[in-house]
Amino acid sequence: MSAKSLTKLHEKLDEQIELQKKNWKSFIYAQSKGYYQGFDKIKIDGWLPTEKRFESYKIKKYLTKEMSVLDIGSNCGFFSIFTSDYVKKIDGVEINPYLIRISELTKEFLDNNNSFFYNSSFEDFKIKEKYDVIFSFGNDSTIDQNTKFNFNEYIEKILLNLNDDGLLIFVAQAADMMPDTKFLPKLNFLEKNFDIIENRLVKSEYPINVPERFLLILKNKNEIYF
Ligand SMILES: C[S@@+](CC[C@H](N)C(=O)[O-])C[C@H]1O[C@@H](n2cnc3c(N)ncnc32)[C@H](O)[C@@H]1O
Repeated sequence: MSAKSLTKLHEKLDEQIELQKKNWKSFIYAQSKGYYQGFDKIKIDGWLPTEKRFESYKIKKYLTKEMSVLDIGSNCGFFSIFTSDYVKKIDGVEINPYLIRISELTKEFLDNNNSFFYNSSFEDFKIKEKYDVIFSFGNDSTIDQNTKFNFNEYIEKILLNLNDDGLLIFVAQAADMMPDTKFLPKLNFLEKNFDIIENRLVKSEYPINVPERFLLILKNKNEIYF
């Protein structure tokens, strides 16, 4: 990875950030820093540094090279691309086309061939397969108002596309942590559909007034309750 080509990659990624600023009509996460997700591997500084975050989530033990994964609201694709080293393949679905372009440029730069990005809402995403693991990191409801599903509909689509012994790795959205008891109705609903393997707090850098969020490791119960 030469310094020159990294500079070129940064120029291309920054161009997408600029285009997003000009043309994307919805709320832009982490506007002040440019990038919501960071990625040390390509020297991008973002609010949520991917490598540190992956480490703090302690999810490596749940991933194997046989697994296919879906990342809902994959943002810059940095977390998906990083995760791809530990699984067979990962799909990212993201509504914002500028973030999809950033994901594609990064994937190309790193010669990555097992991460795939789809510019679609999760609601409209035509899923062709069932996944072993689904990531929902702060995406069950989004402040940009681009999530149209209610919580039950969102979980229903996840369950319909999760393998029988599949896992949902779920991080609460910021608004449900203010106060954290706001998360309880969602937790009750999740308990009906999944076995809770882990429920713990993880550090969160964004937004700064929400320093911690719940992270849940949830196993499909195969008893759909709606
Ligand atoms: C709070 S950010 C979380 C990003 C990522 N999951 C993470 O934790 O790093 C929400 C992301 O979801 C995207 N998004 C919002 N509504 C969406 C939808 N209905 N379908 C797919 N992506 C959506 C936004 O563009 C944004 O990138």
